[in-house]
Amino acid sequence: MTEKRPRIGVVGSSNVDVVTYIERMPVWGETIAAPRFEMSFGGKGANQAVAAAKLGADVVMVSKVGDDMLGENVLGNFAALGVDTKHVGRVANQTTGTATILVNPAGENLILIVKGANGDLTPADVDAAAADLSRCDLILLQLEVPLDTVYAALEFGKRHGVKTMLNPAPALRALDRDKVRLASFVAPNETELAILTGLPVETEEEVAAAANLLIADGIETVIVTLGARGALLATPEGLKPIPPVKVDAADSTGAGDAFIGSFARYFAAGVSLEAALGKATRYAADSVTKRGAQKSFATEAEFKAICATAGRAS
Ligand code: RIB
Repeated sequence: MTEKRPRIGVVGSSNVDVVTYIERMPVWGETIAAPRFEMSFGGKGANQAVAAAKLGADVVMVSKVGDDMLGENVLGNFAALGVDTKHVGRVANQTTGTATILVNPAGENLILIVKGANGDLTPADVDAAAADLSRCDLILLQLEVPLDTVYAALEFGKRHGVKTMLNPAPALRALDRDKVRLASFVAPNETELAILTGLPVETEEEVAAAANLLIADGIETVIVTLGARGALLATPEGLKPIPPVKVDAADSTGAGDAFIGSFARYFAAGVSLEAALGKATRYAADSVTKRGAQKSFATEAEFKAICATAGRAS
């Protein structure tokens, strides 16, 4: 089947990630040495935009950065990767968003966010990008920018017949269910699913029950990302597990974003829902074998080679 060129909009955050790879956590008052430090481009919105762009989608980013050196660099990174930045504003006297990230030897992370300019993205910025967003196949949203802006983008999508995908990350308790229902896809991880539903998600059965609750609540399609256990697709027609791709994890930072950005790219190109989820699972798995967020995302050529090798191996 011939793919159409996908066009993705992202209304979301842009960060600089300050990453320290640690052997163990210090306790309060203790100083210890860590083996490695890196700075790289991140932010859930920017990561999803970059994954889609690296895979060949046309991507328009609606975001805010500070008037600092980091903001300059974030804009340069988007430009180098072909992401359209005409709706990325610079906020005077504000810092660019940052994420201080600690990664342990198992590749697990913990993240501290300073919102900076991401906190200044407003519904008016969604309106200002209306002409470009209305031409998108899919608009991606996360929760690192003000909720009113996320809601405005969900309403925009509904009004203009543009599909939207809400990745409710980082998890927030205070989401308005009526607004969440506007999304064509809601894609939480297990923690976010537990917080969205108030249900336990320890077992497969509990995850399924929580996903079904969202469907019963009127959400069109729920995609639960389960890390090394793959993903779960829930629709009014039923549940479908998406099998994992096994890899040795080096750093899981940005894996969820790799999943969503790559899913968006393939789904918007006309690939079926399940096939696009299969691609996203493989793309995200590959990203955890490398360090960092955006820099761990494969290009379209690299990913084609990965898929071809996997095809030969299976
Ligand atoms: O999802 C990973 C991202 O979360 C990191 O890049 C960091 O910036 C935080 O926003």
